Amino acid sequence: MTTLQAEHSPKTDPKYGGSKEAILHHYDIGNEYWRLMLGPAYAYSAAIFEGPNDTLEAAQERKFRWHMKSAHIERAESVLEVGCGWGTLLRMISEEPQVKKVVGLTLSDAQTVHLKSMNLPKVEIRTENWAVHEAAPGTYDSIISIGAFEHFAKHQDSEEQNAVVYRDFFSRCHRWLNPNGAMSLQTIAFGTMDRKDASEFMKTEIYPDSDLPYLADIIKAVDGLFEVVAVRNDRFDYARSYDEWFKNLRARRDEAVALVGEEEVRRFERFFKIGSIGFRMGKIWLLRLALRPIHNDWNVMGTPSYAEGHRLA
Ligand SMILES: C[S@@+](CC[C@H](N)C(=O)[O-])C[C@H]1O[C@@H](n2cnc3c(N)ncnc32)[C@H](O)[C@@H]1O
Repeated sequence: MTTLQAEHSPKTDPKYGGSKEAILHHYDIGNEYWRLMLGPAYAYSAAIFEGPNDTLEAAQERKFRWHMKSAHIERAESVLEVGCGWGTLLRMISEEPQVKKVVGLTLSDAQTVHLKSMNLPKVEIRTENWAVHEAAPGTYDSIISIGAFEHFAKHQDSEEQNAVVYRDFFSRCHRWLNPNGAMSLQTIAFGTMDRKDASEFMKTEIYPDSDLPYLADIIKAVDGLFEVVAVRNDRFDYARSYDEWFKNLRARRDEAVALVGEEEVRRFERFFKIGSIGFRMGKIWLLRLALRPIHNDWNVMGTPSYAEGHRLA
């Protein structure tokens, strides 16, 4: 178990936009334990699998490459990742020759320790909530956020309150983005299920102070700010990711118990099983969205923000 002293400040605990305590509850239970479950890819979000023999590692790399393409990293010098986890994508982006700077935000102190130890060139790690992140207009050419949006709103709050948070997130991203830039988002969302039927186990033991959006919430929140150029619902990818993490945990169960105890391991086994079933049944979805900022210089002659012949998605 980690013995880290939690760092609290206005940068990590603003009035809204995500709860630091909720992040510590879920993530700061030990990097070694997380590594054991996630495997060498060290990625905690749905991968993109191809074929029955695909490995988790290859599928995670494919997922990150999809987002890099969707956010047009190939023409980006300056990049923001909101919710950078243990840094796998930060590393991949920093290896792109034209990239000059990558900023990664996380609320997890344990992740920050790991991220700083990676000593990635061009990368700035900030233990900071996006709701207080400061950047001049047009700072970033690409923004990517994978698996963090699920933590921005709270299930105890009303849908109206959550809508304000979602809108604020996209308004800020729009302002921070270069008009020629692009954004890529991945999040779990409610699918066929009603918000009020969300599992008490998930709400209290796994993701306290968090909530899921519906696709419609995202569409409403980006309205007038971002053009949606692609939406994918890859829910089976998340089911299979949960299954792979479950297998990793089972394969090294004794070590896991030695690291975090029997109760925690059981909690995660239950979580991965429930999650996998939820995705398979379509109760929850896994959304990937390619977004382009809308600007008022678009006219009948074309869209100056996009190079001629440039594919949107
Ligand atoms: C599920 S992990 C995903 C990590 C990584 N993107 C990946 O795919 O492996 C969620 C990440 O979002 C971060 N996060 C959640 N809410 C946040 C917020 N309000 N501001 C900044 N980071 C946040 C967490 O600290 C964590 O790093």
